[in-house]
Amino acid sequence: MNPEDTLQQAQERIGACADPAALKEIEREYVGKKGIVAAMLAEIPKLAADQRKAHGQKANALKRSILELLALRQQTFESGKLDTARRAEGFDPTLPPPPANRGSLHPITQVTRELEDLFISMGYEVLDGPEVELDHYNFEALNITKDHPARDSQDTFYCDKEGRLVLRTHTSPVQIRAMENREPPFRVIAPGRVFRNETTDASHDHTFYQMEGLVVGRDISVAHLIGAMKTLLRGIFGRDLDVRLRPGHFPFVEPGFELDARCPFCKSGCSVCKRTTWIELLPCGLIHPNVLRAGGVDPEKWSGFAFGLGLSRLVMLRHAIDDVRHLLDGDLRFLEQF
Ligand code: DAH
Repeated sequence: MNPEDTLQQAQERIGACADPAALKEIEREYVGKKGIVAAMLAEIPKLAADQRKAHGQKANALKRSILELLALRQQTFESGKLDTARRAEGFDPTLPPPPANRGSLHPITQVTRELEDLFISMGYEVLDGPEVELDHYNFEALNITKDHPARDSQDTFYCDKEGRLVLRTHTSPVQIRAMENREPPFRVIAPGRVFRNETTDASHDHTFYQMEGLVVGRDISVAHLIGAMKTLLRGIFGRDLDVRLRPGHFPFVEPGFELDARCPFCKSGCSVCKRTTWIELLPCGLIHPNVLRAGGVDPEKWSGFAFGLGLSRLVMLRHAIDDVRHLLDGDLRFLEQF
């Protein structure tokens, strides 16, 4: 039989063969050690010298074609086997996949990102600062001297015996780091985690979030401060809210204020505003000259304002969360609501 007919015959048999065992048998017959191709090759020495080459090439081409056909058929057996196995398990490849579990951003991350976008749109730079901080930045440079009573109200986790290293008790140290590293005028915010060594209850946790703001420029006044805070409130609550300033004492600002906003949830008093229609929202003030000096900024030339927004409190307010500890205890029943 000539090679063409042999190939055609092999093709028909391979197509018709019913199982892998039968396929193996065909393989043996055609390309096995004593198979048809081997016999063709064995004839070569008996041929005239000028026919040998062509004959050998034909035999090898036939072998390649048959091996290809065998491999293809073998593949259909294997995928057929998989289909059968899947059908037996009730697998239906046309059904849509089960829904993938998808996480969501923590409510503090959500509010942080919104505020970052808002402040970036007003020309602020977003800064980061170390959570393990030098006493110098956390207290001294902020005009809080060693014996200052403000140290008692910010119960501190100390990281070494000498009291040189602390877990930062507020984001305000970033004020000094910002001033050290840039030339005025500038505007920055610094959101982040802060720590206090105090007994926890529904409104206090050892770890919580703040966002510091700092603006340094020429002739910055309380009017600039109020303007920026009103924009901030519009960003958070989606509308204009009246604000009022009460005097507040913080060693790093002079004058210092507590800024209250009209309660966004009621008109005549509710549980959020403790029936006063005002909510205490953020401490702020004009930067104390000592602080500017500590940051290497000349208070004769430059002035500025600062504010310290309590991010954890803001998130609680926004979502009516009644216990600050929910924010960090990692309970999925809580987190899945956001
Ligand atoms: N750092 C203060 C605290 O955690 C809050 C604060 C008050 C920040 C006044 C400021 C500010 O920037 O001007 O208690």
